[in-house]
Amino acid sequence: MLNNESNARMCRVGGDQPMGIALRHYWLPVLLADELVAGADPMQVELLGERLVAYRDASGQPGLFSEACLHRGASMMLARAEPEGLRCIYHGWKFAVDGTVLDTPNVADPRFKDRIKGRVYPVREAGSLIWAYLGPKDQAPEFPRWPWMDLPDAQRLVTRHVQECNFVQVIEGLVDSSHLGLLHMNGLKASSDVDLGYAQKIHSMQKNLAPQLDADDTDFGFYYAALRDIDDGAGARTEARVAAFVAPCIVLNPNGDIATLSVPLADHKTAFFHVFWSTKEDINREPLRSRQLEFVGLTPQILDGFGLTDATLGRADRPSSRNHFMQDRAAMRERGSWSGMPGLIEEDVAVSVSAGPLRDRSQEVLSSADIGMVRLYRALLACADAAQNRQPPLGISRDIDWSRVVGVNGVLNGRGWRDLVPAYAKRSEAGG
Ligand code: FES
Ligand SMILES: [Fe+2]
Repeated sequence: MLNNESNARMCRVGGDQPMGIALRHYWLPVLLADELVAGADPMQVELLGERLVAYRDASGQPGLFSEACLHRGASMMLARAEPEGLRCIYHGWKFAVDGTVLDTPNVADPRFKDRIKGRVYPVREAGSLIWAYLGPKDQAPEFPRWPWMDLPDAQRLVTRHVQECNFVQVIEGLVDSSHLGLLHMNGLKASSDVDLGYAQKIHSMQKNLAPQLDADDTDFGFYYAALRDIDDGAGARTEARVAAFVAPCIVLNPNGDIATLSVPLADHKTAFFHVFWSTKEDINREPLRSRQLEFVGLTPQILDGFGLTDATLGRADRPSSRNHFMQDRAAMRERGSWSGMPGLIEEDVAVSVSAGPLRDRSQEVLSSADIGMVRLYRALLACADAAQNRQPPLGISRDIDWSRVVGVNGVLNGRGWRDLVPAYAKRSEAGG
């Protein structure tokens, strides 16, 4: 439970809010690299409540502009897309993606443009994603280099969808192991017959609905472990699934080959990125790509149909709180559907968005199944506190070896769950 003041402190992402200041310490993904086509029209982008315009110049360099033109604020979404940059249609000022002002045709002094700089943010392209940093320019942290960024594009599959709720609500579902066997009951049952690594790794969660949970704080956030005693035809054993929450919004899934990034676009709007990777298979090529996306529920058709794309979000003819997410009650009554939702992603979106755009945590009743929530609130509030005290928040440290921060799963066989995690490091031994 969180009182309303702490809840707002944890969830508000504007630049004048403690959490908003904390979020401006990190590199955050804004788009899939494929969405930004060289020389194509500028794209409207939101991030942390800021209105931005993304553009990739003809040479392939990505850029991110404040929407308001540096001169007198006309929208850069209206700008002309030219090979070297964007040209505002109002007075023709032209900006390169690095902020260099290339032309000011209504100003007679040719040197004027050399004295000013366009309002752009630092961007990086890595891991098939475009990343941005919105904080003070002189305080940009080292760019975190995750191992999955170094794989060939064919071995990495990335998706992005958008939903109308605060970013913390999206992360909550990722450190909440006990909902899997209930909310996603039908998907887990179906996973037995699916010949996909993803399906095989989640299958046995339906065999114990009340996992024992544990967590440890770390320098980057926390580890979250779900332990299931299982006694089926394969014998009695304890299966562990350990996720890593990496501040401010990354969860490394226990499957070991999935990262999710829940990026606040605004207080009530979140972009949810999935990164799947394989060190062995070309999962970004057919037929594996479509099979994976279909099983998880991330095909373009599904995202479009459920109103989870930029073009369909909030449309009256798509599922939303206003129409009970078009829940199929007949399927629940007559066809063995638990949730009345068509798949895993729709189920997650329906429960997180249905709690309201910024859910009231002062009324919730947490149980032993919710230790992930408690850790999450604590980690995020620690980030907000640090930022307000002008200290670097969690995860901003040169000493963290990102190649060792992973999600893992396995059978314990008498070991503890911490033994599964390479380079295991708690933030404090006493704090466990
Ligand atoms: S407002 Fe953009 S050039 Fe004048
Ligand atoms: Fe879920």
